[in-house]
Amino acid sequence: MVLIKGLVILFLCTTSLVHSQKDDWWKSATIYQIAPLSFKDTTGDGKGDIQGIISKLDYIADTGIEPFHAKMRLGSIDVILVSPFFQTQMIDFAYDISNYIEVDSIFGTMQDVEELFSKAKAKGLRVILDFVPNHTSNKHEWFIKSEVGTDGYKDFYIWHDGAKQINEGRNLPPNSWQSEYGGSSWTWSPMREAYYYHKFAKEQPDLNLGEELVVQKLNEVLKFWLDKGADGFRLDASSQLFEDPSFLDKPDKMNDLPQTYELIERWRKFLDDYSQTESKILIPQIWNAPIDDLMRYYVSEDGTQRAQVPMNFMLINELNKNSTASDYKRVIEKYLNALPTGAIANWFLGSHDHNRVASRMGRDRIDGLMILLQTLPGISFTYYGDEIGMEDNMDISWEDTVDVQACNADKDSYQPLSRDVARTPFQWDTTENSGFTSGKSWLPVHSGYVENNLESQMSANKSHYKLFKELTALRKNATLALGDIEIKVLGNNTLAYSRTYEKVSYLIVINLNNQTEVVNASGFKAKLNEESKIRIASTNSKHEIDEIVNLSNLQLTPYDAIIIEYYSSATKVTLSLLAVMMIIIKIFL
Ligand code: GLC
Repeated sequence: MVLIKGLVILFLCTTSLVHSQKDDWWKSATIYQIAPLSFKDTTGDGKGDIQGIISKLDYIADTGIEPFHAKMRLGSIDVILVSPFFQTQMIDFAYDISNYIEVDSIFGTMQDVEELFSKAKAKGLRVILDFVPNHTSNKHEWFIKSEVGTDGYKDFYIWHDGAKQINEGRNLPPNSWQSEYGGSSWTWSPMREAYYYHKFAKEQPDLNLGEELVVQKLNEVLKFWLDKGADGFRLDASSQLFEDPSFLDKPDKMNDLPQTYELIERWRKFLDDYSQTESKILIPQIWNAPIDDLMRYYVSEDGTQRAQVPMNFMLINELNKNSTASDYKRVIEKYLNALPTGAIANWFLGSHDHNRVASRMGRDRIDGLMILLQTLPGISFTYYGDEIGMEDNMDISWEDTVDVQACNADKDSYQPLSRDVARTPFQWDTTENSGFTSGKSWLPVHSGYVENNLESQMSANKSHYKLFKELTALRKNATLALGDIEIKVLGNNTLAYSRTYEKVSYLIVINLNNQTEVVNASGFKAKLNEESKIRIASTNSKHEIDEIVNLSNLQLTPYDAIIIEYYSSATKVTLSLLAVMMIIIKIFL
């Protein structure tokens, strides 16, 4: 029996499923971002921790490889991207690091992190860490030494005497550059009698990455975490890694400077040299770069490899509640058409810096957008909680607000700036604090958790979560991983695209309207015909799974989103044979 099982798995792996060459593990991955502080608390201090993530690994990994499921479901999330858990003063959601190779006691211990690596790997999950090379905390040993002028550390940060005042007194800041969180990006150090530069909070001084020793120290940090088992790194605030050395008020460029690309080339080489057998990936956070600058993060003009996955925030930055199907088509094609040859696309609908997708784009659209995210070519990133359609918590009072960006504003203006709204605890179940903590939660749990939580969605007949799971499983199919894409706008406001690879095609149809549409979806190059079947449908859809649809007269209720599947006759025969084989095996097992 073991032999037959093995043969079936082999068969599956060599037919419609993605070939899992070692080096290709990331190319169509489903990556799940976890903010440890808000995921699951196991100590009762109201803050999430590493043991909390470990306790939920089964949820994340789902049931792992399950080729005997009726729909040949093959696992789900592939990778967890864990936001910072290193030693921190917690000024900026742990993005102010005072020791890169220590685990902050809020989150647990190094032993916990080692356990996370080993347990995640045992469940087939990769682990990517958040690396913050742009700045440290002002409590980092390097800054403390730099501020007092200790030999070897003097130039670790960006120091400037400032602009001379005509009158007596302290020099003025060197220029008018503003911090992301408001106010000058220069802070005076009375100790050093100079200004230091900080793109973010004043407690987050920018490292001087032009200084070789700094890069070497950061490389040691990378090596430390690679040795522990990291599969790659998100590179925080990559666009801002370097500043224009002229220090002019209005330099030609503030972000994505040429030195940034060179450093990323170095880090890519560093990772490639570290492991010859398996890719370690780099995911630079590119905030809102012009498309050409974004594409430069992949590869240099002379072909030198840079990052495998420069973050693409275009679905967030360029689309909103009012966007039409034509806007979606334009944005997706702009990105795909600009990709360098061989580059892998990636897509985001949310992160810890953005409003929740369900709130930004409207609750009714969440299924359609998840279908979009999981069926576009390349890598998908899902921010924790988006799989159940968590919404922004707009009830966080000024007193409860902790996001530095909001705290730098005032009581009347903090709310639109606050990222806390999208950082609230995961809504696990209906118990107090949504099952996140037995203590007092560090941020208020969304009051809607009793209706909207994972447990309820798991037991419901249809739910956002169930849809996400189906989608995540379907992504393992070679057509979604490797297939071509053809995009059309149908009817008034329906986005439709086909994905085709060898003998299997999918047609994804998303009605962005609040009205019923009847569209003709028969004009795609992919060989779809009237025998096409519904494979996946949004929770509000009137369509049924396995229903045969007429492509030239497809009815879509408001916000309906469906995936239609077509197999060529040859594939159908193979799959029928496979189904028969599986029934026989089940009888004998
Ligand atoms: C990045 C992070 C953001 C943080 C900032 C400073 O933009 O995503 O959350 O505040 O860097 O580290």
